[in-house]
Amino acid sequence: MKKITIFLFMFLITVFFFISCNKSNSEKTFSGSVFIGIAIPETHVERWVKDGASLKKYAESRGYRAEVSYAGADQNVQNEQIRNFLKEGARLIIIGSINEGVIAAVADAAEAKVPVIAYDRIISNSADYDYYITFNNYEVGQFQGRSIEQGLDLKNSVADAPKNIALFAGAPTDGNAFFFYDGAMDILNPYIEKGVLRVVGPYPKTSNDRYNFRYIATENWLGDLAKARMKKLLSTDAKDVILDAILAPNDTLSRAIIDACLGDPKYSNSKFPLITGQDAEADSILAIKNGRQYMTVFKDTTKLAEATIILADHILSGNVTPSIPGATLASGDLVSMGDTGKKVVKAFLLEPIFINKDNWNIPVQAGFFTPEEEIKLK
Ligand code: BGC
Repeated sequence: MKKITIFLFMFLITVFFFISCNKSNSEKTFSGSVFIGIAIPETHVERWVKDGASLKKYAESRGYRAEVSYAGADQNVQNEQIRNFLKEGARLIIIGSINEGVIAAVADAAEAKVPVIAYDRIISNSADYDYYITFNNYEVGQFQGRSIEQGLDLKNSVADAPKNIALFAGAPTDGNAFFFYDGAMDILNPYIEKGVLRVVGPYPKTSNDRYNFRYIATENWLGDLAKARMKKLLSTDAKDVILDAILAPNDTLSRAIIDACLGDPKYSNSKFPLITGQDAEADSILAIKNGRQYMTVFKDTTKLAEATIILADHILSGNVTPSIPGATLASGDLVSMGDTGKKVVKAFLLEPIFINKDNWNIPVQAGFFTPEEEIKLK
């Protein structure tokens, strides 16, 4: 009996030893391939395809396992994708959200103690995350406004011969759209007040005027909607005037607006309004080269992706006040960029670059374009 007990005891110790060895082995494998989920909002705006690919590349180059999901601008779909990442054991989730509906999935992540990084777009009305990384979006808008100020020579213009402008904004569900608009209007409002710049169509002075803002906003950043609105403007408010400029928030909308203008005989020849943009999409660089689009803003999303993965690295190693090369932690007035309405998260900002026909080569030199895009631009 004693022998049996000793045998049983030895047997149990051996089994326990094997189980714990195996367990530490599998834990080792797991920590070697920590999983990061990357939730990208849409693909109809070109930049996001690049964002997804760069984030995955940088995550993998730092030894993470990474998966990218694209939500087709549908928040329900994205929430499902985020929840799947959680089920698959994601240790951190990077989210470029679509609208505020994302907060339910962010709350699930918080409950599972999985940190979230709000990528490029702030996640409003949530206190369930701590980090946001983006560009200085107010400055993006200021670049757009300043290009119109200079292009129309507003400083030397007089109220007797005002210049005409039409205003467009991005998705009213994307916090960035407010920053872009307010940055631009910060430059343009004084000229409107002096009467040297005249707004054709609705005029929200700032994005706080939500009532008028919704008339100039473009749901989900859809080019077709901007094109339809531009066509309508051309046959109503802008029918009997020549537009000197159009404030367009990004390249996708800019080209849609250009298309609509090209359909109007008033604009098909040399007189074309100055149309702004953002994102340095290859087709817009082409449009800048051929004089249809006036400017764009280069946000090097490759750098944004790299900085985001460095931030993820810090968070996963428990470093709560990281310093990220190439990005500045928002301070002073800019702290409000991280205000979700429920708390102020740490906002890391990268610098955007103004691009027009004189320096369009900058994104090419930065290696921003695919080989096919580069060929297009030659
Ligand atoms: C991004 C822009 C982009 C737009 C539409 C914004 O949140 O900052 O770069 O053009 O969304 O996707």
